[in-house]
Amino acid sequence: MIMSNALQTIQAPIADELSYFEKYFRSAMRSDAVLLDKITRYLLKRKGKQLRPMLVLLSARLCGGITPSTYRGAALVELLHTATLVHDDVVDDSDERRGFFSINALWKNKISVLVGDFLLSRGLLLSLEHDDFLHLKIVSTAVKLMAEGELLQMEKARLLNIDEAVYLDIIRQKTASLFASCCECGAASATEDEEERARMRLFGEKMGIAFQIKDDLLDYGVTDIGKPRAIDIKEKKMTLPLIHVLNKSSWRERRKLVNIVKNHNTDPKKVEYLIQYITDNDGLEYAKTVMQQYIDEAAGILETFPESPARTSLCELMRYAIEREK
Ligand code: IPE
Ligand code: IPE
Ligand code: MG
Ligand code: MG
Repeated sequence: MIMSNALQTIQAPIADELSYFEKYFRSAMRSDAVLLDKITRYLLKRKGKQLRPMLVLLSARLCGGITPSTYRGAALVELLHTATLVHDDVVDDSDERRGFFSINALWKNKISVLVGDFLLSRGLLLSLEHDDFLHLKIVSTAVKLMAEGELLQMEKARLLNIDEAVYLDIIRQKTASLFASCCECGAASATEDEEERARMRLFGEKMGIAFQIKDDLLDYGVTDIGKPRAIDIKEKKMTLPLIHVLNKSSWRERRKLVNIVKNHNTDPKKVEYLIQYITDNDGLEYAKTVMQQYIDEAAGILETFPESPARTSLCELMRYAIEREK
């Protein structure tokens, strides 16, 4: 409840714009294909936090004002985000999303892959129909980086040789690139000033990195987050808390911990031991410190913009990204 209040405050300066966005997004999801329409309706009923469209709208507001192209940018990023989530749940073999069954849990992998492709192409077409080439350029880069980031993550899950720099690189690609694109797209829809766009892009990237560190921390938590928990270790996904603890352990301990990730990653008792070990050795605390550093840097960038309700909301959105419970 506290969280939804926080979101309401953040949304206050763009409340009308967000409800217009929702209608726009809904119509962009429509399809004449019966099965697709059924699935997109299902997706629309369980909407997420919509942080990315909020970022687009607020960035535009900060950089001069919301224009018709801002809404298209917001719809484009939310379509792409939804597409990547549908695909990600196939990749991660995850059966829950936004508190309900994932698309692959209900309709299987084959259909999920096609639904993801449909959503992706809907987004691209939406931009093409309006000659929004700048949006396309900004966002296509993120799509490419997201795929590369997820593949690098998979490669590392196979070899289990990930260090902190590689981890940060993976999350910069798979998550922060889209956050960066949201802010840049919003700015691009409002101003011609390229330096301002670049600053907004960097703000989004820093915030996106912090957002993913938080997401990885939530995977260790005990609260209901609307998607499976402790799935990262099950998928051999090594995130910052584990990486940090491995770094500071003796080789003997390290061998034991890596062995659990490698060979006993589906054994609840062994995984529980690993999580406890990470907690006791300040893995979570360390990740929180790094997350905070990125937030501080993002806040520093925001402060280069003049004070305004949009800036305040962006600042609160950034805090929400790391304080959220789901
Ligand atoms: C989930 O993003 C995917 C990650 C990058 C961790 P969100 O947590 O923003 O997803 P929804 O849209 O609110 O469900
Ligand atoms: C982020 O990674 C997913 C994407 C960038 C698509 P995760 O696999 O950690 O995301 P969740 O936890 O499933 O939302
Ligand atoms: Mg996942
Ligand atoms: Mg996750």
